[in-house]
Amino acid sequence: MPELGPVKIGLLGLGTVGGGTVTVLRRNAGLIAARAGRRIEIALATAKDLNKPRNLDLTGIELVADAERVVDDPSIEIVAELIGGMEPARSLVLRAINNGKHVVTANKALIALHGNEIFAQAQARGVMVAFEAAVAGGIPVIKVMREALAGNDILSLAGIINGTCNFILSAMSEAGRDFNEVLADAQRLGYAEADPAFDIDGIDAAHKLTILAALAFGIPLQFENVYVEGIRAITRDDVLYAERLGYRIKHLGIARQVANGIELRVHPTLVPARQPIARVNGVMNAVLVRGDAAGPVLLSGAGAGAEATASSVIADLVDVVRALTSDPENRVPHLAFQPDTLEDLPILPIDDIETAYYLRLMVADQPGVLADVTRILSDRGISIEAIIQLEHAALEIVPIVILTHRIKERAMNDAMAAIEQLSAIEGKVARIRVETLA
Ligand code: NDP
Ligand code: HSE
Repeated sequence: MPELGPVKIGLLGLGTVGGGTVTVLRRNAGLIAARAGRRIEIALATAKDLNKPRNLDLTGIELVADAERVVDDPSIEIVAELIGGMEPARSLVLRAINNGKHVVTANKALIALHGNEIFAQAQARGVMVAFEAAVAGGIPVIKVMREALAGNDILSLAGIINGTCNFILSAMSEAGRDFNEVLADAQRLGYAEADPAFDIDGIDAAHKLTILAALAFGIPLQFENVYVEGIRAITRDDVLYAERLGYRIKHLGIARQVANGIELRVHPTLVPARQPIARVNGVMNAVLVRGDAAGPVLLSGAGAGAEATASSVIADLVDVVRALTSDPENRVPHLAFQPDTLEDLPILPIDDIETAYYLRLMVADQPGVLADVTRILSDRGISIEAIIQLEHAALEIVPIVILTHRIKERAMNDAMAAIEQLSAIEGKVARIRVETLA
């Protein structure tokens, strides 16, 4: 049999992930070719500013200013979209698919918002769209969910899926550093999104949860139905009080099957310190998947960064190369389930979700306040697991921290509103949801 020539890749983007992909593909070229069965060669690449100095070996790669040239070039078999954001990424990906090219992307925002359209078009053209790098950087979580756990009814998943948030919360816990200073570090290290508000406001994690939930439950991608909270309201005091109570605060994406639908939510969460996921720090991510047959499966690793993410991009390139000659009808489905079997299961509104809570209230240090607060909680059927009044000898307003048992969010919202009406309460009640993940 004649030896096949290299598979030619068109690279859109030479930033953190694009640069990492160039470096790792070059460094491990022999190993990767031995695994894929053919050499993988970046033939064309583009970026916004081709004159920007880059610490990359770009020998043998033709740099073109016009991204459309990359997706239109007949010699390119696979386009790697590593630009990020919506446009021009979306148009370039759709154009590449229309041109009959396979696509690899790290763009979770694009997949979460336009994946249904992109996969339908890819299916119609018989090409693959692979997106391992879009969730949890270097952790092969898509492959595990889509292939290794294919025999399971997935019951739930919970994950630290934003490296920047975990990096910031870990630094607040370990070093007591300032939020903005730690965020600047995450940006300098290439972890943060182009707009870091996507990270700290939970949007990036919601994009990833949208993808994971579709893979887990056979539902369409539906970013608009995810409940989203970021980490801006978390104070260093909350981190310390949580630790005193035996918990760590993690920003989690949670998807769970319950009797009347599916929970899809992203928010800061108190997790028992003994849970392995509570000890995942810095830019590391972790995803705990619970299958009915496999039981709990915990995957952890680097959630962002040039080479860790490149590892996933290249794994996708190898997968595509291996499948180039396979029957398009019999490939691994994009979202794990065959497209005609997707179900429209109801996604529960946050008010209907049941969880335990951490509450922090600032109260005037006077008799009877605690009794008023506990009465409001008990009137709504909310039972208290722990309560601590923190000493601030010099202050007239002192923090009280309460841990509750599980209760519907609707009842908790009602209780919080009533507590905030008490004259002895200063400001808003801070609330963080608690999950045992047991
Ligand atoms: P960067 O900002 O570092 O890189 C983006 C690249 O795209 C740059 O090379 C930029 O050019 C180029 N670019 C921007 N606009 C255009 C355009 N209009 N036409 C052509 N090229 C353009 O981003 P990242 O590498 O961090 O992220 C890329 C993708 O990977 C995003 O979807 C991100 O969410 C995802 N991702 C990122 C991870 C990370 O750790 N950073 C981890 C997992 C996923 P120039 O260099 O000239 O500015
Ligand atoms: N900004 C993302 C994060 C990159 O911090 O996790 C990885 O998707």
